[in-house]
Amino acid sequence: MKGIFITFEGPDGAGKTTQLQRLAKELQDMGHEILVTREPGGTAISDKIRSIILSPDNQEMVDQTEVLLYAASRAQHVHERILPALQESKIVLCDRFIDASVAYQACGLGVDIGLVKAINRFASSGLQATRTYLLDVPVEVSKERLLQRSQASAQAPLDRIEQKGFEYHNRVREGFHRIAEDEPSRVVVINAHRTEDEIAIDILADCKRLLEGLSK
Ligand code: TMP
Repeated sequence: MKGIFITFEGPDGAGKTTQLQRLAKELQDMGHEILVTREPGGTAISDKIRSIILSPDNQEMVDQTEVLLYAASRAQHVHERILPALQESKIVLCDRFIDASVAYQACGLGVDIGLVKAINRFASSGLQATRTYLLDVPVEVSKERLLQRSQASAQAPLDRIEQKGFEYHNRVREGFHRIAEDEPSRVVVINAHRTEDEIAIDILADCKRLLEGLSK
């Protein structure tokens, strides 16, 4: 079997990182070779770009810069880490990918969606996820979770994107819904306003079906 590229998306605070790690453990226990990675980040260069993008000090960042920095971080990540892992037949589990640029920069900020997609096609050399799990929660719930997280840990203050207001995050959520409607065979919407175990069971069941289908 060639490598398989699986991404996790959703609003900040939807719990996708926890679910990605749970799926990684299950797949490893089943004997699969896994690469767990995230965007923006995943390489030394991409992590440096991540800190520029998310720093609350960089409030003056213009939309064009934001789009291009996410895409630059992605270009390095795709070519340095994701494509080589897929060549080695690994299952790549990536915390966010191009859908996040469509939801946050196109739908959230209002940057032209065709342009965002074109820039990211170039950055990723056309790589697309085989399956995307969209963890969906109402904005009120995700904002509350983020607030609790940042209060619980002095080391995790809200980043520049998380600090944006309710209206922005609502547009992002609607953007994710639109992506799911446009590509129902790739994007599986998961109700993330449930217990961690309930969510993990649904994701694992779908992933097992996906792997079975691909191995035929
Ligand atoms: P994370 O919190 O999932 O690590 O992602 C960092 C933030 O960056 C999060 O608020 C979502 C945002 N983001 C974008 O706006 N566009 C993108 O293309 C990606 C990958 C993330």
